[in-house]
Amino acid sequence: MARYTGLIERYRERLPVAADARIITLGEGNTPLIRLENIPGSTGKDVELYVKYEGLNPTGSFKDRGMTMAITQAVNEGSQAVLCASTGNTSASAAAYAARAGITSCVIIPEGKIAMGKLAQAMMHGAVVIQIEGNFDDGMGLVKEIAAEAPVTLVNSVNPYRLQGQKTAAFEIVDELGRPPDFHCLPVGNAGNISAYWTGYSEYAGLTTRACSFCDDQCPYRSDPVADRLPRMLGYQASGAAPFLRGEMVEGPETVASAIRIGRPQSWDLAWAASRESEGWFAEFSDEDILAAQAMLADKEGIFCEPASAISVAGAMRDIKAARIPAGSTVVCTLTGHGLKDPDIAIRQSRAPVTKVSADLDTVKKAILDNM
Ligand code: F0G
Repeated sequence: MARYTGLIERYRERLPVAADARIITLGEGNTPLIRLENIPGSTGKDVELYVKYEGLNPTGSFKDRGMTMAITQAVNEGSQAVLCASTGNTSASAAAYAARAGITSCVIIPEGKIAMGKLAQAMMHGAVVIQIEGNFDDGMGLVKEIAAEAPVTLVNSVNPYRLQGQKTAAFEIVDELGRPPDFHCLPVGNAGNISAYWTGYSEYAGLTTRACSFCDDQCPYRSDPVADRLPRMLGYQASGAAPFLRGEMVEGPETVASAIRIGRPQSWDLAWAASRESEGWFAEFSDEDILAAQAMLADKEGIFCEPASAISVAGAMRDIKAARIPAGSTVVCTLTGHGLKDPDIAIRQSRAPVTKVSADLDTVKKAILDNM
């Protein structure tokens, strides 16, 4: 089998990449689709529940899918510098891919509001790190203004190459399952990713065939690709940062899931279109529910994701229990980022006892038995 060299090579004919472009890749994509074994039982319903573990991308989040495209294009256009605002993962990814390409990156982050691992990444990859006394939405406004006048390429998801790269996650899922899932669950922040998946599934639809699970041969919509072959897109938000639930932009968003602490999503229209066209829905969760889902995935399945990612599984479980997702469905949840990105939150919320004792055999033996 040929060596895997990243998603641009794998899906080249479906991506806008110049034939002679220098491909900036770190081997992103090709992430595991893991079938959950223990959690579905707790819903009491018969569903096939999978997670797409995007935390296993090179910088630990799904952003690398978009960044390989955005940085490849920037380099191809002769750009010497890239710029983004970020809640942490975009900045980590931009910094890494810019380092790989040998160009400069500058990242604007909300002071004190990004997870430690993400800050460490941007710093190690040599980004110019600017912390602002403001939130992600303020940063987004600033980078758009700067990019309009300075010789830098904006690599937030308003850059269309980002979403092109991110759509490949949907291709991988269809390739692996042999068909699209019935439901796809995602955290929604700036709303680029849900839009990218919908693009990916829609483009791939013509290539897959599957009997529609909602109708029979006589159904007049049977040949309708949307009804027939595409998943319903379910977007989940933190209650304190839920513009799609409020139906309008939110000022001063707040949530423990710092990755999705966003009140003014840039892909507002695209995400609404994905939800409407796929006949999906949006729902919201408290910080407490988000952290409980993160802990459950780690504890019951051995999968460590960051808080924002876990909201997709919280959402799937609630909707399965409520039969909004019917029995017999195949469901995929995207786990957008790795749990190691945010060790502070993990340690703070963990209820696992850490016992300190002296280093002698009897004491250690007793401590083990006492804590089993
Ligand atoms: N999950 C994680 C771990 C994220 O980092 C993000 C977004 C999302 C979900 C939401 O995805 O914005 O496409 O709806 N993080 C961006 C950043 C905003 O700057 O890293 P979205």
